[in-house]
Amino acid sequence: MISWREDLNIGVPAVDTQHQELVRILNDFLAACTQQKGKDKIVETLEFLVSYTITHFHDEEQIMIRTKFPDYEAHKLEHERFVQDISTIKRQVEDQGVSVLTTIKINRTLVDWLINHIQKNDQLLGSYIKSLDV
Ligand SMILES: [Fe+2]
Repeated sequence: MISWREDLNIGVPAVDTQHQELVRILNDFLAACTQQKGKDKIVETLEFLVSYTITHFHDEEQIMIRTKFPDYEAHKLEHERFVQDISTIKRQVEDQGVSVLTTIKINRTLVDWLINHIQKNDQLLGSYIKSLDV
């Protein structure tokens, strides 16, 4: 589970709101896994997580394009890798369900990636956008 922390805010309200929602949806999925809700429910929460993630990345990329963010390509690549990873996880869950061990692994993979990405890459975007303000 992730608790929202102030230092995850990047100072761009549209992005921060979506990040908070993303964390909420990720927590729903993790809760479904740890409570062993059954494959259908777990897949349902995971599908919602995947679709929200794609929407969010798209919106973030539009902001980068609009503001001519210099690291756009690299940042977009990070997004694409995550969508690939989460899609692989989704296929695995659909095929094999979720054991305690896979719950721990999925939990670590998704949470680590998201926190790391927000703290490094998205914070850079936030600083860049703030630097544009005159
Ligand atoms: Fe991002």
